[in-house]
Amino acid sequence: MRDEDYSAVLLDWYDNHARTLPWRISPGDRRAGVMPDPYRVWLSEVMLQQTTVAAVKDYFQRFTTLWPTVGALAAAEDAAVMGEWAGLGYYARARNLLKCARVVAGDLGGRFPDSEAGLLDLPGIGPYTAAAIASIAYDIPAPVMDGNVERVMARLFAETMPLPDVKPVLKAHAARLTPNTRPGDHAQAVMDLGATICTPRNPACGICPLRDPCKARATGIAADLPAKAPKKTKPTRLGIAYLVRRADGAWLLETRPEKGLLGGMLGWPGTDWTESAPPENPPIAARWHDPGLEVRHTFTHFHLRLSLRLALLEDGTPTRGRFLPRQEFRPANLPTVMRKAFDLAQGAWPED
Ligand code: ADE
Repeated sequence: MRDEDYSAVLLDWYDNHARTLPWRISPGDRRAGVMPDPYRVWLSEVMLQQTTVAAVKDYFQRFTTLWPTVGALAAAEDAAVMGEWAGLGYYARARNLLKCARVVAGDLGGRFPDSEAGLLDLPGIGPYTAAAIASIAYDIPAPVMDGNVERVMARLFAETMPLPDVKPVLKAHAARLTPNTRPGDHAQAVMDLGATICTPRNPACGICPLRDPCKARATGIAADLPAKAPKKTKPTRLGIAYLVRRADGAWLLETRPEKGLLGGMLGWPGTDWTESAPPENPPIAARWHDPGLEVRHTFTHFHLRLSLRLALLEDGTPTRGRFLPRQEFRPANLPTVMRKAFDLAQGAWPED
């Protein structure tokens, strides 16, 4: 098959099977000249890094309802944005989102740059996001590489070298197939194909528009690609979290330091998370109750086992964190590991 035929087949498939997504302009509307709002493309692509479409949809709706423009987002309180991001993970994305919104609204008159290089200069925008915005929002033929595209390219051309070494080879294939007409729809078509047909396990080769030219399908190795270098096993770290409820219903919480894991997010004060059991380090003088409970949570680079300590007290001055009045506390504003700690403590309080 000639290079340009792959895209012709993909675009034809996309015209009939494009997923309907809240940030997407349908292929029919795009062909009629409707282009997406770059703010919505940017927001969706940042949310979609490391996160599935299903998980992102509700967050995207909430963000665009609360902050319909980049100017509105730039003017938001940091804590409000971090609170709305809670549960999506990879919280550096949310901190960079705000930084980027403030540069675009403050220095660029509210307009996202319409070149890959201009986009790459912005906080939190790397090669993937720059190419995605350039192609989807501005129809610039920038090859977009994400896990879906890598998988499709590895299979189409039966590239058996393992990830990550094979990446430049896959990128060259993707660049070669990127057309000058409708590059934005082409990028979305490859991603949709990867998400719905050319899936990691059990690819639906029988209904794939590219089943004929696919080299991996011809040799029966589609499901085995892309090959991956063996994973390192994750270490386990141990920590203690201190949940304190004051008699008036206020909770002792701290905003975590900007740098580091869960940076800028609200959380329970606690010990460091270390490979051997950490010493106790309570944030306030109290009669501590150990319910014998442990939260388990997996981050990118380690598993965490987080023990809980609970205290109910009349009053007191903490050495860390601050009491958040009960009306201001929304468990949904906690990152997932802290939310798990809160949920696990239900029913375990000394008086219950
Ligand atoms: N995954 C990440 N970005 C996407 C997009 N624009 N279309 C489909 N799937 C995606």
